[in-house]
Amino acid sequence: MDSKVTAPSSETLRTTNVLFCMLIFLSWVFAATASVSYDNKAVLINGRRRVLISGSIHYPRSTPEMWPEIIQRAKYGGLDVIQTYVFWNGHEPSRGQYNFQGRYDLVRFIKLVHQAGLYVTLRIGPYVCAEWNLGGFPVWLKYVPGIAFRTDNEPFKWEMQRFTYKIVDLMKAERLFEPQGGPIILSQIENEYEIVEYEIGHPGVAYTQWAAGMAVGTHTGVPWIMCKQGDAPDPIINTCNGFYCENFIPNRNYKPKMWTEVWGGWLMKFGGPTPYRLAEDVAFAVTKFIQNNGTYFNYYMYHGGTNFGRTSGGPFITTSYDYDAPIDEYGLPREPKYTHLKDLHNAIKQSEEALVSTNPIIASLGQKQEVHVFKSKSGVCAAFLTNYDQQYSVKVRFGNGQYDLPPWSISILPDCKTEAFNTAKVRKKTLSMVPWSWGFSWESYNEWVGTASDEGSFVVKGLKEQVSVTWDTTDYLWYMTDITIGGDEEFLETGRLPFLTVASAGHALQVFVNGQSVGNAYGSYETPKLTFSGRVALKPGVNKLALLSSTVGLPNIGLHFETWNAGVLGPVTLEGVNDGKWDLTKWEWSHKKGLEGEALSVFSFKGSSSVKWTGGSSLAIKRPLTWYKTTFDAPEGNEPLAVDMISMGKGEIWINGQSIGRHWAANKATGGCGKCSYIGYYHETKCQSGCGEASQRWYHVPRSWLYPKGNLMVVFEEWGGDPRGISLVKRTT
Ligand code: GAL
Repeated sequence: MDSKVTAPSSETLRTTNVLFCMLIFLSWVFAATASVSYDNKAVLINGRRRVLISGSIHYPRSTPEMWPEIIQRAKYGGLDVIQTYVFWNGHEPSRGQYNFQGRYDLVRFIKLVHQAGLYVTLRIGPYVCAEWNLGGFPVWLKYVPGIAFRTDNEPFKWEMQRFTYKIVDLMKAERLFEPQGGPIILSQIENEYEIVEYEIGHPGVAYTQWAAGMAVGTHTGVPWIMCKQGDAPDPIINTCNGFYCENFIPNRNYKPKMWTEVWGGWLMKFGGPTPYRLAEDVAFAVTKFIQNNGTYFNYYMYHGGTNFGRTSGGPFITTSYDYDAPIDEYGLPREPKYTHLKDLHNAIKQSEEALVSTNPIIASLGQKQEVHVFKSKSGVCAAFLTNYDQQYSVKVRFGNGQYDLPPWSISILPDCKTEAFNTAKVRKKTLSMVPWSWGFSWESYNEWVGTASDEGSFVVKGLKEQVSVTWDTTDYLWYMTDITIGGDEEFLETGRLPFLTVASAGHALQVFVNGQSVGNAYGSYETPKLTFSGRVALKPGVNKLALLSSTVGLPNIGLHFETWNAGVLGPVTLEGVNDGKWDLTKWEWSHKKGLEGEALSVFSFKGSSSVKWTGGSSLAIKRPLTWYKTTFDAPEGNEPLAVDMISMGKGEIWINGQSIGRHWAANKATGGCGKCSYIGYYHETKCQSGCGEASQRWYHVPRSWLYPKGNLMVVFEEWGGDPRGISLVKRTT
């Protein structure tokens, strides 16, 4: 059969040509409309320079049920971008076993941000710091043979690359990068590595180069950033983190000036003060950055949230990660901060065109006053009038107008005429919160003081490092040994009890002799190590010494923090038996990980029925090592809830089987709190209010964790407390 090739008709040709042109046009439009790049002035989205206002919201620090509202509030507050870390240890709790469910449903979170019309900056890390357990690294990573974290180490680089690709591939598969039509406009590799690089030298430099190359090699289609990394290799943008960043200069003159962490509040530690930063000063810091050519800034945190379960790092970071953020731990606007910053964002948006099209001309308006004018060729104009005087208000003249500038403030004039915002003029006043109580009927069950014969215990000569035994599956490790007083040579000094000294690498310790608690000791965020010393009643014969060591979050920062120890490592000594000092450190010690109540999951509905609880007059009060349980119906309404733990000591709380976190009524230091308030560059170093009270009194109970009726609350108390003082509080505006 002849195959006849017929010439296409002119009509077909025309159609093909039109289609072809359309295709070219569409691909051109697509390339021009779906791209992210940068120049020396700003990040460009779809070819357009932008001033981008961003806020950190960490998805596992709230519940999926809270996400839509928090994101909407962020949008209403004037944000363009949500910035989040990716939490490796939440996503890969065991090597190769992934979790992207519930609070770790990263894709769902990003899609919700997208639906709200906002962008995402994805800080993959995978080291994230963030006051998160082990800085986001899974505990198993510590035990990969030959590993050393965050340096030029093959096993580490292999695992880091594997996880980075896992996340990038997931984002690509879900079409979440901006050129794919998704919301992700920037990604971050590593986190504030510069300081480590400085300390370790050459292997650090090699690691930075490798990390940059590896990240860029994933071909996400959007720029990569490295925060606090002065030598960030091209094309990666180095960015600033800090309380003020107006003087930051990127490492190349073709990169934009970006601020990835505006510290608008601060972290809280058990035993530390409640940090806060004035809304006026946050606004002042941000406006200074903008008037000095900054075009991207991100509040760290915009919503801090909660370190549920045992996710907090430190050690000693509180369960609350409220951070004095514009949206509070419970998802409500914190006033006046939220509205003040919203007003600021509004004024910045009105000035955007001028800000991205030119550099400012700076002129003096007085001794401590100046103006930054952004005036483009096309005629748009925005002006920033600054009063650097920390004490006095001034009137300044600019153009044809006169303007009042309070001390330490900046006025924004988006049209170079009308004041739209002044950083020190706060419109909205603080809202009050109304507590709401609920009486509970409690039952108790006594945890056993560890004994050497307990199932799961093992004996070795000497003391073992805690995390190497527990792999952080529990906060607790028992160390037990027998002290036998008897025979001819051994005698107790008459009239005085023997003196026991126990040195521990951290973080807290409770000492039991013959089943009785004889005291506790604990370290601090700055110094996790501790020493217990005290007199103990020993009797002739066999005495049981049991030490309960507990961790309070694994370190998330510091040089090779993966090598930092926890637990009783000694020396353990006893004086006052015979005439000398006994060194118990190398004796035989029985080790047992976890509590009996944990092994039985007494915090769950099923597990709670496996033990015998007592109530009424037999309720244990102020008894160490006690589990408490109660049931309650959900309070009506939909206000956020918290549990008031003021009458308790230290331990953990579960609602319907899920841990809401560690509780600890550790008292705030009364002074020397460092970063607790900021007025200008003046850092107040004294505790401001509620000094000497518990750092954290209220613990967030997510509404979505409750059933309408019959909710189970279980509390484990280490030191002794009175559960009758526990109440439920409604958080209302
Ligand atoms: C930064 C770090 C954040 C967080 C913050 C303090 O240095 O990048 O992850 O730890 O400090 O809250």
